[in-house]
Amino acid sequence: MTGRFDGRVALVTGAASGIGAACAARLAAEGACVGVLDLRAAGAKATAAAIRARGGTATALTCDVSDEKQVEEAVATLVASFGRVDVLHSNAAALDREVYGRDRELDALDVAVWDRTMEVNLRGAMLMVKHTVPAMPDGGAIVLTSSVSALVGDTVHAAYGASKSALIGFTRYVATMYGARGVRCNAVAPALVLTPAAQQALTPAQLADKAAERLLPWACTVDDVASLVSFLASDESRCVTGQTLVIDSGTLAHRPQHAIQRWREHQ
Ligand SMILES: NC(=O)c1ccc[n+]([C@@H]2O[C@H](COP(=O)([O-])OP(=O)(O)OC[C@H]3O[C@@H](n4cnc5c(N)ncnc54)[C@H](O)[C@@H]3O)[C@@H](O)[C@H]2O)c1
Repeated sequence: MTGRFDGRVALVTGAASGIGAACAARLAAEGACVGVLDLRAAGAKATAAAIRARGGTATALTCDVSDEKQVEEAVATLVASFGRVDVLHSNAAALDREVYGRDRELDALDVAVWDRTMEVNLRGAMLMVKHTVPAMPDGGAIVLTSSVSALVGDTVHAAYGASKSALIGFTRYVATMYGARGVRCNAVAPALVLTPAAQQALTPAQLADKAAERLLPWACTVDDVASLVSFLASDESRCVTGQTLVIDSGTLAHRPQHAIQRWREHQ
């Protein structure tokens, strides 16, 4: 790795597993001191320990991103250890069975599911930005995790999709408000990333449908998302701000029926 984050401090939320854990590991491998933040204390500690075992610098922070006091304390703890923040990757989302799993038909939707989705996915990102920007004295880079669910409709997950759409607008507002201070803000919008949790949640038929939607023969991995996040967090993207980058192996780049037909022809 190039060490392009040498001497920099990064904070990654939702970093106990999946995309967040991979992004925390990538930023650390490229030289950053990383705050590994998650609601799940044991998972955050495991990610931080794995980074340290590979020679990196990481500290685990247990925090519910929807709770302003906890967010304020977590950022203060990181700043007390490392002096400031240069990179924020706000990635946590309520994906558990009780929230995402119950985010189904709107006419039967429990409002508590809608509220918790917005609290974690949207208010959580706002609170992270609110309390991290003041700790970025020399400017910085913020990357929010949205989703292709922000860009297309579905028969389920309206709360999730609406929260991820709002993050795309929020990205532009943060970029506009803090650009003059040298703070950039961008979002990544992945399609299905084959994390163990995602693979478990989908049936073989659903996985085959997802494969048919892609133009490329391969799905995105957490490391592919980490590559894009570390690019957006680095000076190599110093002129990119207010943007949402889709990372989806071509899922949204075409009229679905054309690719599905082509895929069937190759079976
Ligand atoms: N996996 C995919 O296919 C996919 C596709 C598009 C977007 N995304 C987005 O990527 C991000 C990471 O998802 P993932 O697939 O790695 O799932 P994941 O479940 O591994 O990661 C989500 C993390 O967020 C944490 N979290 C949940 N609520 C929290 C809270 N209140 N405070 C702090 N942490 C909290 C969880 O404990 C978990 O570690 C999410 O924003 C998700 O919406 C995932």
